[in-house]
Amino acid sequence: MMERIRFDFGNLMAPNVDGGVDAAVLDGPLAEHFREAYAVVSARRAQGDLGFLDLPYATETVSGVLELADGFAQWFEDVVVLGIGGSGLGATALKEALLGPFWNAMSDEERDHFPRLHVVDNPDPHTFRMLLDRLEPGRTLFNVVSKSGATAETMSQYLVARAWIEAAVDEEKARGHFLFTTDPTHGVLRQIGDAEGVPMLPVPPNVGGRFSVLSPVGLFPAAVCGVALDELLAGAADMEQRCQTDELRSNPAGVLATVLHQADVSAGRSIHVLMPYADRLRPVALWFQQLWAESLGKAVRVSGEAQPTGPTPLAALGATDQHSLLQLLMEGPHDKVVLFVDVEESGAHVEIPSRHPGIPALAYLGGHSMGHLLRTERAATAEALRREGRPNATFHLPRVGEGELGQLLMLLQIATVYAGAMYGVDPLDQPGVELSKRLTYGLMGREGSEVPEIPEPDARWVL
Ligand code: PA5
Repeated sequence: MMERIRFDFGNLMAPNVDGGVDAAVLDGPLAEHFREAYAVVSARRAQGDLGFLDLPYATETVSGVLELADGFAQWFEDVVVLGIGGSGLGATALKEALLGPFWNAMSDEERDHFPRLHVVDNPDPHTFRMLLDRLEPGRTLFNVVSKSGATAETMSQYLVARAWIEAAVDEEKARGHFLFTTDPTHGVLRQIGDAEGVPMLPVPPNVGGRFSVLSPVGLFPAAVCGVALDELLAGAADMEQRCQTDELRSNPAGVLATVLHQADVSAGRSIHVLMPYADRLRPVALWFQQLWAESLGKAVRVSGEAQPTGPTPLAALGATDQHSLLQLLMEGPHDKVVLFVDVEESGAHVEIPSRHPGIPALAYLGGHSMGHLLRTERAATAEALRREGRPNATFHLPRVGEGELGQLLMLLQIATVYAGAMYGVDPLDQPGVELSKRLTYGLMGREGSEVPEIPEPDARWVL
């Protein structure tokens, strides 16, 4: 049964942490500022811009996903998702969190005969070749995920995969090895799918890539491996409803956006670290990194001048990064806020045996569980940061279950659109990624693209 997740932001508040937010400020000007941001977001929702908020209730779409997933799961042994950015990170986050890091290494019986799942984002030929060499074309499904249908990385993978399949099965059968997840009416992928009768799933027009994890983009890969979509979506719906209030103290996403925005603009704490203490949640931190970066890192026009704005997200993992980043977090510049994720039930009980009773450096570990050690390290690190005047907060998850994950993903997405309103940027666009795409098109010889002149490396500056 799903339990609610909790967000403990006490270590961002005064006097718990030096320079923390005063309760009177939170309940006064910040609550008022949030009400304004909430009004901006509500207006966008009313205009139909924020389709991700409706995804938990899209029952027809979910039925379509489940129907295809059921059929494909019976036939295919390997499902390969081809998608990058928002079209790949969500599927990876769901896969790792809900299926675990060893899903593809499990036997058929252990996987309950659901297929293995691979998410390939980068067009790195080494990875792609190594993967294809390990797959059986006759039992492989490619789920090509691209909202625009024109993303060079994904489409190049599609072209290679299509030729690879066609070399093994006849052309007629080849189309049955593909599922396109794309815009319902626009784009090249939609055109190809319509012309060739390839099965397709829609990405709603008002759902952008990085807000698409709960659309068919993330749902199909999860469902084909047996993830309980109803629980995932129930969790997301619960959070969506919790956040339907402009009263700051009752709105978890509102509090998150407010404290992070405030930490950035009033204290220069512009680096926002998401650090789950669970290996399975590491890809959630990477998913958040893209969500926060691509949504909020924008040029804002102030008196006609473009002013760079936006926080810098950083994905970390506890306890691993206590041995990598913690020194910097404790004593480096005061420019960070750390968000921990604590998982109460780890999902496996591993007892640490008592041994070497005469060696105090080891004896204290005996009799505790490994999960207890991991959780204790999180609590100790949060306290250590607090004592150094380093603000931090913690999401407490009862477990890494579908419902709990649905809540967390929805909370982070809603916080992102609130933060967009607070920073005065449009969290749904990404104009800054266009130039490098255009230059790539020109250099790769795409018709109608201007071939850019890139200066030759200057020998003086090359060693
Ligand atoms: O969040 C976004 O909008 C981007 O990261 C896109 O998801 C990414 O560029 C892939 O785009 P597409 O789905 O059109 O292939």
